[in-house]
Amino acid sequence: MLKKLFSKSKKGKQSSRVEEFLLDNECLPSHIAIIMDGNGRWAKKRAMPRIAGHHEGMQTVRKIARIADDLGIKVLTLYAFSTENWRRPKSEVDYLMSLPQMFLNSFMPELMERNIRIQMIGDKEGLPNNTKKALDEAMEKTKHNTGLILNFAMNYGSRAEIVRAMKDIMIEVNNGNISIDAIDETMIDQYLMTSNLPEPDLLIRTSGEVRLSNFMLWQLAYTEFWFTDILWPDFDHQSFMEAIHAYQKRNRRYGGLKGEEMK
Ligand code: FPP
Repeated sequence: MLKKLFSKSKKGKQSSRVEEFLLDNECLPSHIAIIMDGNGRWAKKRAMPRIAGHHEGMQTVRKIARIADDLGIKVLTLYAFSTENWRRPKSEVDYLMSLPQMFLNSFMPELMERNIRIQMIGDKEGLPNNTKKALDEAMEKTKHNTGLILNFAMNYGSRAEIVRAMKDIMIEVNNGNISIDAIDETMIDQYLMTSNLPEPDLLIRTSGEVRLSNFMLWQLAYTEFWFTDILWPDFDHQSFMEAIHAYQKRNRRYGGLKGEEMK
């Protein structure tokens, strides 16, 4: 069994200690989803404008994508803009909408070198033209890449996604292409925006908030959750290893029992 050793240094008030994370390469999560929270607070703590926090958050996206790729994670889904985020001041929304272009322009050579594929979930048509164009171009350019799928949730809301799936299924029912009896969980999966992706194995939310905020409500049914007080711009290699290590210690039973427990 291949194992990777990661070290973590923590400076306490009086002593320093090193925590070692022994990751089992054979049970890495295939799909990690992250609610990246705390950019605003990170900026506020430094007396900087909120958008400075989002800019730093974008740098963290780059760092974490590299690590996920190095580890061989299959899918990394990042909650970058929710359908509720339109309620923020226009200047902040405009900045958030400029981030995909900024990120994809500068990261594209490395994305290609690393064989990373860009995807998105969310209502693309509701995005400003420049944002849509940047995402479309990146998805087109990377569509044959077979490595990590870097999946951005942009203008995404899980309830809206489920409503859309229900409507699409009902259209097929009305047209006589699907019978009511044929509707099951597998079919609903196929009508969601994540139809080509495995369900997330691990959900991470940063910044101390402990809620889902309308993120992948259907897909997270059996996902392991890991919450941290760390603000997204401060989330780093060590935090990521800690999350994956915690995941590997979980006993995933999907409502059933395992091995010895069955006897
Ligand atoms: C929530 O923190 C964060 C967001 C709404 C935006 C997240 C976006 C990024 C991390 C960058 C995305 C990068 C790309 C390439 C699309 P918050 O602003 O609500 O923080 P707060 O709760 O501390 O105010």
